[in-house]
Amino acid sequence: MNFTVAIDGPAAAGKGTISKAVAAHFGFAHLDTGLLYRAVGRKVMVSDASPEEVALALTAEDLMGDDLRSAEVAQAASKVAPIPEVRAALLAFQHDFARRQGGAILDGRDIGTVICPDADVKLYVTADPETRAERRFQELSAKGSDTTYETVLADVKARDARDAGRAEAPMIAADDAVLIDTTNLSIEDAIASAVQVVAQRLKG
Ligand code: CDP
Repeated sequence: MNFTVAIDGPAAAGKGTISKAVAAHFGFAHLDTGLLYRAVGRKVMVSDASPEEVALALTAEDLMGDDLRSAEVAQAASKVAPIPEVRAALLAFQHDFARRQGGAILDGRDIGTVICPDADVKLYVTADPETRAERRFQELSAKGSDTTYETVLADVKARDARDAGRAEAPMIAADDAVLIDTTNLSIEDAIASAVQVVAQRLKG
């Protein structure tokens, strides 16, 4: 069976948590496409190679390591993400993943618009910036980071502006995406909404 779920939305909106839960519920494979851009951003920080060269030579090992989730790497990711050659280099891997048998969920910024415009289900997960910054601040603090809420909020806003404002594959909800605003939703309720949308589409 081929069944593709595209989940997009701004930084720290809950895409990852929802994607993992929906994937587990339906037995689909899950790809966090943000990790691809984070891996390129992290390697570019310490390499002489161009972002395009790094993206073309990405390996499974590059997707490992706890620091991939850090705020510094997130900023680095959003600085290489506007480069068309970087996005092109990561395209085939994402397409192949989306078409795998058994169902696939991809989450990112341009999945419903560019990577999988024909996805069976498209969700756009969002929340107000303060709520997203608070969640990300709690997440980073739990991992031992000594960052502040104000720093995280500024980071999230800067990254959203860069992601939404770029010319190539900007962050935007697809016309046919179902919007889930998680500002006032518990994580259980957000997951339940997403599961319901997918279940309905699978039935139909
Ligand atoms: O986890 P969080 O939502 O904070 O970010 P992420 O999904 O890991 O993405 C990190 C950065 O990669 C984003 O800010 C984007 O600049 C870039 N990205 C992208 O351009 N396209 C995607 N499909 C996924 C991520």
